[in-house]
Amino acid sequence: MTRWVVIVLAFALAACTAVDQKEAAGYKPDGKYIFNNAAKGNCIACHRVTSEKYVGPGLAGIGSRHSRAWLEKWLTDPQKVWDENDSETQELKKRVGAESRKFTGMKVINLLQDTERTALIDYLMAL
Ligand code: HEC
Repeated sequence: MTRWVVIVLAFALAACTAVDQKEAAGYKPDGKYIFNNAAKGNCIACHRVTSEKYVGPGLAGIGSRHSRAWLEKWLTDPQKVWDENDSETQELKKRVGAESRKFTGMKVINLLQDTERTALIDYLMAL
């Protein structure tokens, strides 16, 4: 009985390692997939890619509202950007009526790899 448990665990571990290796080798992150996938960006939980507001603002035309550099920071640590309150962030706060709110409602649910974040930003800039 215990032997079976060990065998099953060994197979499960081997399967996980195989997936990791695949991601490391030929893995080309797809921004749209990351946006929509719950285990990746899961942005779809709060955003629409149209101008429709959901939990957060609709992201149509986002590339004309924000610089790449701002998006890089925002998608890494939104609360830090919220606290630093640069001019782009002030514009966002004003637009969503949150000038005096201390915390952003934006959550980065899963930590993205750098290449994934870049692919996601490419996707956002083209919306
Ligand atoms: C839990 C909900 C939630 C999730 C998940 C979320 N966001 Fe947000 N996001 C927000 C909210 C809310 C705001 C507006 C700021 C505020 O009110 O705090 C925002 C703001 C933004 C903005 C600035 C919008 C503008 O019009 O200036 C961008 C860009 C953005 N989010 C991208 C993303 C991306 C990409 C993901 C996925 C990695 C994501 N968000 C995940 C809630 C979320």
